[in-house]
Amino acid sequence: MRTIIAIDGPAASGKSTVAHELAARLFYAHVNSGAFYRAFTWWVLRAKADPTSVEEAAAVLERTKLSSRFEGNEGILLLDDVDPTPHVRDDAVTHAVSFIARMLPVREALTTHLRSLAEERDLVMEGRDIGSFVFPDTPYKFYIDASPEVRRARRQAQGHHDEIATRDRIDSSRAYAPLTIAEDAHMIDSTHLTIDGVVGEVIGLLKLLGLSMPAR
Ligand code: C5P
Repeated sequence: MRTIIAIDGPAASGKSTVAHELAARLFYAHVNSGAFYRAFTWWVLRAKADPTSVEEAAAVLERTKLSSRFEGNEGILLLDDVDPTPHVRDDAVTHAVSFIARMLPVREALTTHLRSLAEERDLVMEGRDIGSFVFPDTPYKFYIDASPEVRRARRQAQGHHDEIATRDRIDSSRAYAPLTIAEDAHMIDSTHLTIDGVVGEVIGLLKLLGLSMPAR
């Protein structure tokens, strides 16, 4: 098991940009676990199955070969050897993903793949349940938040249609591995911080926790 840095937080909290930058600075691989949930959601929609029906989604899961691997520094999920990356940000996927992510069989299958990536590389992994459920034993856990106004503005600036409040509500209230702040996570409020500011704070805390940094 390699070093895992877990970065959790609600939608549009800035965790993706921070996780990418952190992985680049530490020479770690990056895994966006949200992209895994989005990938399977796209696959369910493509199969014309109902993304709110656990029976239909489970049937799609059953007949699909899931595999995960690194493409450069990025961990990705393949579905029957198809790379879903071009589609994971589609509005239809964003709209349906929280329904799919509530389903136990989906969470079990994807969590297995997310964990297996940590056997190969040191990782910065971002998501909702990384510190609380996927890697509860890592000492390096961060929870990044920002005010709802700033998060809405960030998403609008990216030009995406995204009901972030609805997604957060579904993600926080689901039965299995909901969005939650792990007890031992370091909270960072990014409302008034730049990306560099947040990354600097995370790196400062990692040094305090004893993580060795790459030589410059
Ligand atoms: O991070 P992103 O907003 O792209 O995640 C999309 C969705 O995937 C979330 O709204 C949530 O429903 C689901 N997700 C999850 N667990 C994770 C990461 C994402 O349930 N670890």
